[in-house]
This record gives sequence, C-alpha cells and structure tokens, in this order.
Amino acid sequence: MTKTSDIPKTVTVPLSKIKLNPSNPRTIRDDRFKKLVESIKTFPEMLRIRPIVVNEDMVILGGNMRLKACQAAGIKEVPVIIASNLSASQQREFVIKDNVGFGDWDWELLVKDWDAVELEDWGLEVPEAFVEPPERPKVDLTGFTDLPSNIICGNNVDVLKGFEADSIDLTVTSPPYDNLRQYNGYEFDFEPLARELYRVTKPGGVVVWVVNDATIDGSETGTSFKQALYFKECGFNLHDTMIWRRCTIPQSGPRYESCFEFMFVFSKGAPLAFNPIMTDKLYTDNRKEKQGHRGSDGVPTMLTVSQRTDKPRYNIWDIPVGGGHVATDELASEHPAIFPEHLAEDHILSWSNEGDTVLDPFCGSGTTLKMAKLNGRRYIGIDISEEYCAISNKRVAEASNAGR
Ligand SMILES: C[S@@+](CC[C@H](N)C(=O)[O-])C[C@H]1O[C@@H](n2cnc3c(N)ncnc32)[C@H](O)[C@@H]1O
Repeated sequence: MTKTSDIPKTVTVPLSKIKLNPSNPRTIRDDRFKKLVESIKTFPEMLRIRPIVVNEDMVILGGNMRLKACQAAGIKEVPVIIASNLSASQQREFVIKDNVGFGDWDWELLVKDWDAVELEDWGLEVPEAFVEPPERPKVDLTGFTDLPSNIICGNNVDVLKGFEADSIDLTVTSPPYDNLRQYNGYEFDFEPLARELYRVTKPGGVVVWVVNDATIDGSETGTSFKQALYFKECGFNLHDTMIWRRCTIPQSGPRYESCFEFMFVFSKGAPLAFNPIMTDKLYTDNRKEKQGHRGSDGVPTMLTVSQRTDKPRYNIWDIPVGGGHVATDELASEHPAIFPEHLAEDHILSWSNEGDTVLDPFCGSGTTLKMAKLNGRRYIGIDISEEYCAISNKRVAEASNAGR
C-alpha cells in the first residue's frame, strides 16, 4: 500500500530549471497549441491542479507541451511534481501512459455531458467517431455532366461538406499562394480544406496541389512544405514531389532567378490510376542482356534489356508560360493567375481514367475543368468568386477538341 509520505509533493520552480523530454513522442498541431497557450493565460490555476511531472533531473515525464505553452505565455515559474521514486522503466511507461489521451477518457460519457466542440476548443483531441457529424447537404454527383451545375460558386470548404465521402477520383488545383494575389479579396482556410479533400477523395484517388511560396522580408515563407506535411497528417501519402519548370519574370535581389513551382502529388493509399506520359529515351541500350543484382553465391542474375525507345517522363515537367502557351482560348486571360492547360491535362491523363470525376476546388478560369471535359472525365469546379465562375462556365461550355 502506498504511504502518504511516498506521494510526491507539488513544488513551484522557475521554468528555466525544467528540461523538455527529447523522447516524448507526442506533438500537437499548431492550432491546438495556440488554444493551450490561451487556456493557460486565461486559467493559470489549471497548472496547479494538473502540474507538470518531472524526474529528479527535472526532465519532463508529463507536460512537454504545457511547458512550451507556459514559455509562449510568458510564465516564469510553474508548479511541478518531482517523481523521484520511479525507476527508468517506470519513467518510460509514465511518458507513454500520460500521453495516450485516447483511452484516458470515457468518450461516450464525456460527449454526453460536454459539447465536443467546446472540448476541442480546450485542446482535447476528441476522436472523430464521437463528434456528431455536421448536417451535410447532399450533392448528387450524377448531375454534374450537364452545364451549368458542374461549377459551384461558394467557399470550397462549405461546398465540399455537402459531398459524399470517397466520391472524387482526382483533384488538380492551385490555391492562392500565400495570398500573393487577393483574388477580389478572397482568402481560404487551408487546414479544414485539406481535411475535406481527404474525406471526399476515393481510396486510391489523387490530389495534385500546385503551389509556391511568397518571399516576405527577404525569406521564403515555406508555406508549401507546411501544407505538404499537413496533407500527410490528414492521412494522404506524399506520393511524389514534382516540379513544374517554368519561365518567370526576372527577380531583383541577391538570389538566382526562380524558375519552378511545386506540384505535390498526394494519394489516398496507392494511386489507383497511373498512365505515365512517355518521353523519348536519351539513348537506347544496344545490349540484349545486362547484369542485375548478385545472389548470395556472388553470381549476378542476367536481365533482358528492353528495346523500347521511350520511357516514362521524369518528375520535372517543362511547361512554358507566356507567349500564348498557357491556354488555347482568349477567355482564360480574364483571370489573373491561370495555370497552363498542358499542366492540368498531363496530370488528368496521368492520374485518372475516362469517366472519372475530377475536382478543382479553386477552379478560377476553369482550366482543370476544361481539360477534364476534353479528355472524357466528369468535372466539378468550385470558386468563391461569381465573376470567375462565370468565366469558367463560359470557357468549359465553349471547350471543344476541334483543331487541337
Ligand atoms: C490560383 S487561382 C486558380 C486558377 C486556376 N488554376 C486557373 O487555371 O484558372 C485561385 C482561385 O481560388 C479562388 N478562391 C480563393 N479562395 C477561395 C475559397 N475559399 N473557396 C473557393 N475558391 C477560392 C479565387 O477566386 C481564385 O480564382
């Protein structure tokens, strides 16, 4: 039986004395961290009720994030419990068990008595199964082959909430980059959008996210990378980081001229469709056979050399802009930031099959939709601007393969 004298006491120590635990496996998302900082500022008593737990070397066993949040909140000293009587293996066990989260709570009881949204606001990660799904207006995708119902004007997150899960084969899109252009003053909410894209993408479906960073105060923002990692957090595979090599306007300042954008290819599981675009081989191998890996006996296996003169394209795509290369129609130029028709078309051909449904949640002038239509795919476009939706509608309606 535990004696009262064995129960560690709470003592108050300067923050600078406490050391973060480098082997703590738990991280929390940015938005949750901000909420935790806010909770600590508005309800500091919480730290006394649930103190940080440290070992006798003042290394944290429970409360890594709380310490970081205290630092961010400008707090100078905190109550801690010094668990000096734990063995090394008990300490390891404590770190995991204190961080499990799931299973510490009887979620069923909890969400009966508490509002799940409020719990999330306090930084609790409520498992999805216990959050009441929002009412979703049903969108019947069968109507989407007929204009004009295939282009929806609205905020993409709200519109996507009306879609059935697992309904989209491929998304090819390009968001506003770091709000470089304000597009009539519209902005978008990245994280909810990434989560919705994961939900609506079919297993085996793909999202192509064409993006670049702004340079602010002499430094690139790195937003593209942060977004790519967040897509992974949502459950997507980062299937390929592709490069779109393009010519751009020469930049001033002490850096080389920028000539590319990222085309992140995310997949929900392994991609179901892959129809590689072929290119000529630089040279053909004249040998009939070549040496493969050596077996355990040291004898190499012999492989037959393919006599094909083509090979799948590399993942750096040269697609020019300007000089009439971007679009085959005049209407597209009414939008300030279109991407080339070839870019959309080559991704559509690569990652989808005829009859598949292709989405662009930032459809702008409708480039993705036009190329989907011309290649026998169904298409859904969303844009927040009525003006751009009107351009998309017109452009897609007039799209024809004649003369291509
Ligand atoms: C980079 S442009 C896309 C251009 C498009 N790829 C094309 O070739 O025409 C981004 C578009 O996103 C739209 N947009 C911005 N915020 C949005 C939101 N929250 N929901 C839907 N569309 C949004 C803008 O109106 C703009 O047309």
